Amino acid sequence: MRYVRLDTPKPISRIGLGTWQFGSREWGYGPGYERRAAEIVRRALDLGVTLFDTAELYGFGRSERILGAALGDDRAKVVVATKIFPLLPVAPVVQQRAVASAARLGVDGIDLYQVHQANPVVADTTTMRGMRSLQDVGLVGEVGVSNYGLRRWRFAEAALGRRVLSNQVRYSMIDRGPEEDLIPYAEQAGRIVMAYSPLAQGFLSGRYDATNPPAGAVRRANPYFLPENLERGTQLIATLREVADAHDATPSQIALAYVLRHPNVVAIPGASGVEQMERNAAAAEIDLTDDEYAALAAAAHAFRPVTGLAAVPRMVRARLGR
Ligand SMILES: NC(=O)c1ccc[n+]([C@@H]2O[C@H](COP(=O)([O-])OP(=O)(O)OC[C@H]3O[C@@H](n4cnc5c(N)ncnc54)[C@H](OP(=O)(O)O)[C@@H]3O)[C@@H](O)[C@H]2O)c1
Repeated sequence: MRYVRLDTPKPISRIGLGTWQFGSREWGYGPGYERRAAEIVRRALDLGVTLFDTAELYGFGRSERILGAALGDDRAKVVVATKIFPLLPVAPVVQQRAVASAARLGVDGIDLYQVHQANPVVADTTTMRGMRSLQDVGLVGEVGVSNYGLRRWRFAEAALGRRVLSNQVRYSMIDRGPEEDLIPYAEQAGRIVMAYSPLAQGFLSGRYDATNPPAGAVRRANPYFLPENLERGTQLIATLREVADAHDATPSQIALAYVLRHPNVVAIPGASGVEQMERNAAAAEIDLTDDEYAALAAAAHAFRPVTGLAAVPRMVRARLGR
């Protein structure tokens, strides 16, 4: 495993574990998954993973409970990151919700407490007042944000009066927006971009095609898995496979290596089983050559999926099986 080169109280592994899947029916993993989830966490620990990401929203608290129980006494050794869903993120609410998350996780302190997304009405001034007081009493280590643009991330830092260590955003080969400004900022200021959905929810694994889409509500709602987009992704997956073969690796591992090329990026893929966790952890060791990176970037650039409003009627048709 490799770790972020930044001054943090505990080392942060470049590959973390995302746990939205834990206790969340919408992934469609069924009742047996809860036991597997615990095995995934234990294996991640064995492999040197020190970053575990959850949220109060995932499974309405179940993900935090499952993660905390699986970590057991190792909780104190790793970076436990959770998120407040900012329905009314005024200071006293932020404080209460942190206490509730810590209780579900079974921790004395939350290593990284993130605002799940920017609230359009409540300014970060009041939210960060709550975060600052939580840091002052030691219940929260580092503060983070999620789904923030650069301006608002910097505003949040000014409001906190301290670093907002990380911004958790969608970042993968096919969602490259963070390369424009968030990643350069992280590199210049010593911050972290935490890539969520780094495998585009499994699209980049190459496991799925138009005749074999994934199950579960999350991916039924993701336009990348429209038959037409799976078809359009054929060349991109072929390029991933080609690079993967040269490294004796899998397309997913190469997709992770692509985002990890930036030193201040960490990725938090979810996993449906232990073997995926093992492969994802191993991806931290893969170094792409410049030519490979360029070929991957070109293939990613050439992939033009149908998204946004244009995807809506197609998704309805796919849902109705027409
Ligand atoms: N802050 C936010 O707003 C936000 C939003 C989304 C996610 N997140 C966080 O980011 C984490 C990861 O994002 P995500 O779960 O949306 O997407 P992801 O990590 O891109 O995809 C996860 C899925 O990809 C498949 N997969 C994982 N490893 C694989 C491997 N080695 N080989 C083949 N397939 C593999 C698995 O599904 P199958 O095996 O079923 O194909 C797995 O459930 C979440 O768990 C959550 O913690 C945060």
